[in-house]
Amino acid sequence: MRFKDKVALVTGASGGIGQATAYRLASEGGCVVMVDLHDCTLPDQDRPHLALRCDVADEAAVMACIHTVLDRFGKIDVLCNNAGITCTHAPITEIDSADWMRVMGVNLFGTAHFIKHTAPAMIAAGHGAIVNTASVAGIRSGAGGNVYSASKAGVINLTQTTACDLGGYGIRVNAVCPGLIETGMTQPIFDYARSAGKEDRLGARCELRRYGKPEEVAAVIAFLASNDASYITGQALPVDGGNTASLNLPGMKV
Ligand SMILES: NC(=O)c1ccc[n+]([C@@H]2O[C@H](COP(=O)([O-])OP(=O)(O)OC[C@H]3O[C@@H](n4cnc5c(N)ncnc54)[C@H](O)[C@@H]3O)[C@@H](O)[C@H]2O)c1
Repeated sequence: MRFKDKVALVTGASGGIGQATAYRLASEGGCVVMVDLHDCTLPDQDRPHLALRCDVADEAAVMACIHTVLDRFGKIDVLCNNAGITCTHAPITEIDSADWMRVMGVNLFGTAHFIKHTAPAMIAAGHGAIVNTASVAGIRSGAGGNVYSASKAGVINLTQTTACDLGGYGIRVNAVCPGLIETGMTQPIFDYARSAGKEDRLGARCELRRYGKPEEVAAVIAFLASNDASYITGQALPVDGGNTASLNLPGMKV
């Protein structure tokens, strides 16, 4: 019950890693605020929770969302910036500015908006934990297209800079960097591999030789959000089956 009496806001909570995170925090006693473009539900409706629709890329909508939460619960102890979208893998010469603005708007600016407008309440409270969902694509090339990778590298750097801004107020800021996880975002990859009889190739280049589940990322987000991580801040932790630990040279794995 690490989140008993705590209010935890999770963005991108209608599915995938965000939904698994909301479920995990709620199962550990948290009052969970689930934020998404789409409707969000908790399996156990008796647990204290709130579902809000909000486009994280829209700063005015983010401010309104945070006001609603503070009016209702009076505080935000935990913020999980998880909403994200992917983008084309086209080469840089073929990417237009609309793609850059759309993906940066959600993945990077959305994260910044929520930190900016949640931080004052955390500062007033003298504590807080923020966990951003970045990606292995923000650490190495090859896991996402140019735009997505740059947005996630931005999230990792924002994690470090905001950890410096807010550390003096007792607020920790960390990130997780998931590898290949089966969610709505990656469903086309999984569908293609299965229909082509190549399911055994999914995650095969990871040291653990498998892909991950949303719950495995949620467990790490919950750890970083909890007091178990009380002396960790400014870090970006891969949750990738060892993917970023090796050079992953083609042909080197059996
Ligand atoms: N699945 C993977 O392999 C993987 C790997 C690395 C990082 N990630 C990151 O994990 C996070 C969660 O993604 P997922 O894999 O669970 O995919 P997902 O598509 O299941 O979940 C993303 C959620 O974000 C919401 N969302 C999208 N744009 C939004 C917006 N503007 N405002 C509010 N909500 C919005 C979607 O509605 C969705 O519920 C993302 O940041 C993604 O980049 C995923």
